[in-house]
Amino acid sequence: MEKTFLMVKPDGVERKLIGEIVTRFEKKGFQLVGAKLMTISRDLAENHYGEHKERPFFGELVDFITSGPVFAMVWEGENVISVARNMMGKTNPADAAPGTIRGDYATQMSNNIIHGSDSPESALREIGLFFSEEAELVSK
Ligand code: PPS
Repeated sequence: MEKTFLMVKPDGVERKLIGEIVTRFEKKGFQLVGAKLMTISRDLAENHYGEHKERPFFGELVDFITSGPVFAMVWEGENVISVARNMMGKTNPADAAPGTIRGDYATQMSNNIIHGSDSPESALREIGLFFSEEAELVSK
């Protein structure tokens, strides 16, 4: 069964959207297998977003993701990586369809509520960065 890494970003936590977001994925039929509220260190943020190191907004992205607690999660289910991305909506909330998380709750690229792995390789890497498989993830 496929797993993905999802994270409610500091703006989503601040706006008390954790429950709403968890509910959407639960109701869809996915299984929550790990979760924690945490503050990300700069090291972890730079590592997590490493592929965007050369992009002009990298500093802003790291500042933002370390600016307050995030809610990190691992979800499991059939095609969960792509289905979760569809449920999140387009990265730029201005383009995100109504009914998606970003379409319903966000207006700005820099405050887009949620992160989700974009491929099986990213999911594996990001789950490993944020969670200890043995101690923090449950298996059925
Ligand atoms: S994606 O989803 O990976 O294709 O999106 P991408 O456009 O490559 O953006 C990667 C992450 O950078 C964030 N981003 C920005 N943050 C601040 N300012 C600007 N201008 C900006 N552009 C992109 C975007 O939200 C993505 O973050 P994550 O956490 O991966 O969603």
